[in-house]
Parts: sequence; C-alpha cells; structure tokens
Amino acid sequence: MKTLKILVLNGPNLSLLGTREPEIYGIETLASIAQDMNACAAKLGNVELEFHQSNAESDLITWIGDSRGKFDGIIINPAAYTHTSLGLGDAVKAVAKEVPAVEVHLSNTHAREEIRHKSLTAPGCIGQIMGFKGYGYILALKALVKHLRG
Ligand code: DQA
Repeated sequence: MKTLKILVLNGPNLSLLGTREPEIYGIETLASIAQDMNACAAKLGNVELEFHQSNAESDLITWIGDSRGKFDGIIINPAAYTHTSLGLGDAVKAVAKEVPAVEVHLSNTHAREEIRHKSLTAPGCIGQIMGFKGYGYILALKALVKHLRG
C-alpha cells in the first residue's frame, strides 16, 4: 500500500487550544490532537502526518502552495481566516486537483455569530467537518484517507 502523506494546518490562535474559551473549543491542546491523529494514522496504516500552526496568513498560503508533489492531502482549520481570507481560499483551490483538502472546525460555526457562518475556504475543499471539538480532526483524517484510497 502506498504511504499517504497528509499536511495538517492550523491557523491563528489555535496554539492556545486547551485554555482558549474551552466551553467553545474544548480542553484538548493542539499537541494532544496531534497525538490522537498520529495514533489514528498508525491504526489506518501507511499514513504519515506533518503538522504546522501559524498566526500568519502568508505562512498558511505558502505551505498550501508548496504542498504539490510532497503531500497527498491537506487537513486544515483556517480558524478566523476561514471567514476573511480570499487568498487562503484561492490557495486551497489552486492545489485542489493534486492535493485535496478537508476543512475542520472545533465549534459549529453556524451556531455562532453571523460573521462565522461563511467560509471562504470551504468551496475549494472536498468537505467540511465541524462541531465535534478535537474529534473532528480524527473524522477529517478518516474521511480524507477514504477519499484518497477510494
Ligand atoms: C474555529 C472557528 C473560527 O470561527 C474561529 O475564528 C477559530 C476557530 C473553530 O475551529 O471552531 O479560531 O475555526
């Protein structure tokens, strides 16, 4: 079986998970989510994950743009840039044929302020998972691997 390489990107303020508004985002940290995802990847077999977090839109855009030829898929929580960044949305669309992406949100953004209802990144993604806190990343990983392996 071919080894799948998956890029896991997290946007602004997600480094604060665990202490950041836990009633909305849960108590898991980015490190514990990464640990759970690695355990899930090991169970799935032949899946390698690479994790990055940045508060800078340009870092996220560059990682996405550089993903072609290196990664088979992307799992992304663009955080607040979901609702504001046309550049990030364009980046996801630019690589979508070669490196399909799944968008994840810890919270159900549709149940929150109206400004969070729109995603500029989701149209370029194969799907979106939200509202399941840290477990959403596991759901995204399983869905992406299923999509890639058919
Ligand atoms: C978030 C939802 C966004 O609206 C917010 O700005 C975040 C986190 C989520 O995972 O629920 O930072 O992407």
